[in-house]
Amino acid sequence: MPGIVVVGSQWGDEGKGKATDQIGDRIDYCVRYSGGNNAGHTIVVNGEKFALHLLPSGLLNPGVRPVIGNGVVVDLDVLFAEIDALEARGVDCSGLVVSANAHVITSYHQTIDKVTERFLGKARIGTTGRGIGPAYGDKINRLGIRIQDLFDESILAKKVEAALEQKNHLLVKVYNRRAVDPTEVTEHLLGHAERIKPQVVDTARMLNDELDAGKVVLFEGAQAHHLDVDHGTYPYVTSSNPVAAGACVGAGVGPTRIDRVIGIAKAYTTRVGEGPMPTELLDADGDRLRETGAEFGTTTGRNRRCGWFDALVVEHAHKINSFTDIFLTKLDILTGWEKIPVCVAYDVDGVRHDTMPMTQTEFHHAKPVYEFLDGWQEDISGCRKFGDLPANTQAYVKRLEELVGCRISGIGVGPGRGEVVMINDLLA
Ligand code: GDP
Ligand code: IMO
Ligand code: MG
Repeated sequence: MPGIVVVGSQWGDEGKGKATDQIGDRIDYCVRYSGGNNAGHTIVVNGEKFALHLLPSGLLNPGVRPVIGNGVVVDLDVLFAEIDALEARGVDCSGLVVSANAHVITSYHQTIDKVTERFLGKARIGTTGRGIGPAYGDKINRLGIRIQDLFDESILAKKVEAALEQKNHLLVKVYNRRAVDPTEVTEHLLGHAERIKPQVVDTARMLNDELDAGKVVLFEGAQAHHLDVDHGTYPYVTSSNPVAAGACVGAGVGPTRIDRVIGIAKAYTTRVGEGPMPTELLDADGDRLRETGAEFGTTTGRNRRCGWFDALVVEHAHKINSFTDIFLTKLDILTGWEKIPVCVAYDVDGVRHDTMPMTQTEFHHAKPVYEFLDGWQEDISGCRKFGDLPANTQAYVKRLEELVGCRISGIGVGPGRGEVVMINDLLA
């Protein structure tokens, strides 16, 4: 079972980090393939909490080699700060390798991210402000700076100048900001060259060779299906392809390398930032989910919008990502409700939809149609086998499985490593 993709099936923060860590002792490589430090993956080991933004979650297992693939956008200041903070806590990061083709996020990407959001006003996306969109924009516009450019001073200076030429006009004339000095940017990046150089390798070639040798590679998704720039709720998305297929592009492996696609689904729904979310609860129930689930962003600290499980959202993710398994997280958070609503269809202007509608307009008009499942009162955090779960909890899981059309192979019943109910082996 060499190639496994872990991918979020909703709008992020499903518990991808925890799920990855859960199988970390059985993998050889853990690869981030998309996004950047907009991600925040929380892992709790022996009561100690780690929040990873750029580094792959597998890192917390000593035998795992962490890889940052070509599809990631890397803010080197953030990367080094994250490494230093982890090493200070005794986590060895020396095995990290970074793709020479990964693009860098610079200060001007962050500036542009923030000013464009401000100019959008009510139409803002609610980005994390980390410069992600502008960095991917430069990549697509062929104005990006790659990690390898840091090792050729004259090329780097030229590229930074070219990247800033138009942007400085925009910053000064449209956004009323100071122009960015290309020399300052170039020098700042060059200041990182020596430290990053030993970690930079041809990661795509390395991963293919290691897969040939039978090594187990886990591709750790960031963000999620519905934040995907092609398949998500555009324009309220991130600027990359978090979907499972993105692992092939963002790490440089062919589709035949992928043996397992594990969709991570929270037992309810959350979203950070703007954009439609049919099951969002703007009442006391939403507050209760936020409080019990501690639904506050790992990266920006923003309140996460909370709502009931939306089967159409996860079914859509399953359809496009071809999940082999679902790992259902935070089921313990649903303890204590008498009835638990689950969205099984939408009413769109009087028309029933059993799958996600095709257009954005329809999705914005979607009203959830709920089925009310019986809740449970028992504490399930100590359960380790499916049979240990109360009958109503089992029925909830079975109904979600039926609605989404994919087997649920693991269930999270707490934030800590090992707080899981495993049903099927995720690696067999
Ligand atoms: P990610 O971005 O998908 O990795 O998810 P985040 O780390 O941003 O958010 C998930 C949060 O839920 C984190 O605080 C995790 O520690 C926590 N978590 C993950 N799985 C479970 C679970 O099964 N139960 C509980 N109670 N918390 C969980
Ligand atoms: P993890 O990996 C939740 C959201 C932002 C915003 C939109 C675009 O922890 O699940 P961006 O800064 O990427 O341009 O913002 O995407 N977003 C996330 N929401 N979890 C994430 O990552 C996210 N990464 C980006 O809130 O709505
Ligand atoms: Mg997160």
